[in-house]
Amino acid sequence: MKRYNYFDILKNNFMEFKMIEYIEIKNNIASAKIALQGAHIFHYARNSEKPLLWLSEVSDFEERKAIRGGVPICWPSFGMNNPDLPQHGFARTSLFKHISTTEIDADTTQVILKLTHSKETLKLWAYKFELEMKITISHKLIMELTTTNLDTKSFKITQALHTYFSVSHISDAVVKGLDKKPYFDALTSKVSLQNGDIRFEEEVDRVYQEVDADIVLVDKERKINIENEGSASAIVWNPWIEKCARMSAMKENAYESFVCIESANAMEDFRLIKPKCSHTLKLTISS
Ligand code: BG6
Repeated sequence: MKRYNYFDILKNNFMEFKMIEYIEIKNNIASAKIALQGAHIFHYARNSEKPLLWLSEVSDFEERKAIRGGVPICWPSFGMNNPDLPQHGFARTSLFKHISTTEIDADTTQVILKLTHSKETLKLWAYKFELEMKITISHKLIMELTTTNLDTKSFKITQALHTYFSVSHISDAVVKGLDKKPYFDALTSKVSLQNGDIRFEEEVDRVYQEVDADIVLVDKERKINIENEGSASAIVWNPWIEKCARMSAMKENAYESFVCIESANAMEDFRLIKPKCSHTLKLTISS
């Protein structure tokens, strides 16, 4: 981590990391790092195990730039689902407020961060809201993203917990649990039906719909279970060689070491949230 040139300054339980602050958690079971910008968890590992989340070695850790890796929050729009907003919305580059870090017991720590509307967000998206991210660090990694409508009019969101999973090698990775599900292929703009498990031999960029069971990611070293609640869509993405070379904050061969499986409400699985109502997208990762 020294490559990021962090200053090693302990302020309460925050550390300064170039220009952005993060919270560091260590308990009997696992460790994690969560940036206040974007409520972005960029490290999670069970003690004496390899990190579960992939993080680009050349990621930016700067204000207004999304970290490349971990779990960026795409909100209030996934991809370019709302063309008036930046790609993947504005939450991933917005500064969240740290509400609490609670040691539930020696094995379990819970962090709550919140983002609310501001002059700046209202200019981009004309709704009053509260967005709460609750992260539980233990044997499992649990993320609960709750959107509350504080406005007098209903709003529509698309969103994703854009998880970058670390894999032994992309050629070993197999994604199970999406057989027979329809998907929108972002590379061809066509809808197809998944036939069997997903393996990676080229660029993959798909929005799966009607997702109603756990997704399992298998590689040579482990089996990761991805359980989604409040979601019926999932994105499976790997940029492969050419796109990886064009992408920001990624080394040329980075595509070999991660797969994104994104727990989502995307495309037809958008959510309409009425005034005073909430919606929670919950992701539980275990291995
Ligand atoms: C995925 C999209 O969710 O995010 C891809 O399906 C996109 O098309 C990827 O390239 C990364 O997006 P960004 O904005 O973080 O570079």
